[in-house]
Amino acid sequence: MSFKTIIEPFRIKSVEPISMTTEKQRKKLLSQANNNLFLLDAEHVIIDLLTDSGTSAMSAEQWAGIMRGDESYAGAKSWKRMKAVISDLTTYDNVIPTHQGRAGENILYSMLGGKGKVFISNTHFDTTRANIEYSGATAIDCVIKEGKSPEVIHPFKGNMDVELLEKNIVKYGAKNIGAVILTVTNNSGGGQPVSMENAKAVQKVCKKHKVRYFLDCCRIAENAYFIGEREEGYANKDYKQIAQEMFSLADGAVMSAKKDGLVNMGGFIALKDKKLADSCTNTLIIKEGFVTYGGLSGRDMEAIAIGLVEVFDRDYLNYRIKSTTYLGEKLSELGVAVILPIGGHAVYVDAKSFYNHIPVEQFPGQALACDLYLKGGIRACEIGSVMFGKYEKSGKLIPASMELVRLAIPRRVYTQSHIDYVIEVFEQLIKEKEKSKGFEITCEPEFLRHFTAHFKRVD
Ligand code: F0G
Repeated sequence: MSFKTIIEPFRIKSVEPISMTTEKQRKKLLSQANNNLFLLDAEHVIIDLLTDSGTSAMSAEQWAGIMRGDESYAGAKSWKRMKAVISDLTTYDNVIPTHQGRAGENILYSMLGGKGKVFISNTHFDTTRANIEYSGATAIDCVIKEGKSPEVIHPFKGNMDVELLEKNIVKYGAKNIGAVILTVTNNSGGGQPVSMENAKAVQKVCKKHKVRYFLDCCRIAENAYFIGEREEGYANKDYKQIAQEMFSLADGAVMSAKKDGLVNMGGFIALKDKKLADSCTNTLIIKEGFVTYGGLSGRDMEAIAIGLVEVFDRDYLNYRIKSTTYLGEKLSELGVAVILPIGGHAVYVDAKSFYNHIPVEQFPGQALACDLYLKGGIRACEIGSVMFGKYEKSGKLIPASMELVRLAIPRRVYTQSHIDYVIEVFEQLIKEKEKSKGFEITCEPEFLRHFTAHFKRVD
């Protein structure tokens, strides 16, 4: 007998109080933060959906592991445990610990990058792209065309356009390809999964042209769940086995353990090629730390070793993906346009459609993100022209391709009633839609302006 109510497969042992604020207080707080949600104090947020990264709740087992953490400088037991779990999962022998994902990207891609090199991904995450471009190389995105249309339903919208991938390899020359990177799930494309069939097709092309093939695997367990649910031949497979099969196709992987590692800090590089791993190790020692801890303390490594096992639990993954889908489908039923189908870690709302009276030059995504805070104390993240817009020489805005607001769900943190509250806040906002106004930027830094820019409501 199965029930339609999917419960959180855990009990709560330790709680973190949320401080409740009123709309009047939030108006003042947002104004003090110059209408930038990154500049708010976290204690003034009721439901924090800014990111699913580093925001997971750890299990009792992980907290027990924290106490067992071996803080020896070299050869710690906690390192051996973390390495064993990662080698087993990835099927690779060479593991390099880093303090988070971007540290691994920096080490690996600065080594393989440089001027004239090209990296090809389904969609590069911002920090991946930044690390590649910082090395002087070029980053090209080749997601399938369905992955670029919010409303098109496709089971694996994160898939790489393999034909376009091969065209680009031929165009730039195989020897100039730094690496091909498959991001699973595809965060920047809406948290959409990649199929095993696609991962195999990418492998075939990479093998044919002898180019390196890596996974950006920070949400690999969520991706494995989607394969189990949607791809033929995988219904009865263990999620860890599915992940292992995907890893075995590639030459290596970079992981931010802050996502599917179920920890607050950590990451790693794992590689088949020992020679490449040895070169990475040299940079690791200079930039992160000794080979048996990288940028991590023993307790972090212990928590990662446990988190990477817990994340593949069937009941956990079922609850995780179904609860994200619950939020997305309820919003969709209310008539809110969201990226479909709902991805693994977040719901992406189409703010251009929600506030269709606000021109893109006045940042409808920023307006929705600020209104969610004002109305309900919810913090979300604008992923639109504030984050990605550029300027023409004349100062005119070149808008981003989409104006999205991401509601990222921290793992094991919020209950169904928190999510129902988010839905109710949307219900209220829908009623007052036409009243909302856009924003202008009053000051901004040269790079990554969304973190620190100041905004003013347009009259
Ligand atoms: N790759 C992907 C696909 C990511 O989503 C992230 C981080 C990273 C790499 C970098 O990892 O933060 O540990 O250095 N994504 C976070 C987010 C920040 O909010 O989506 P990191």
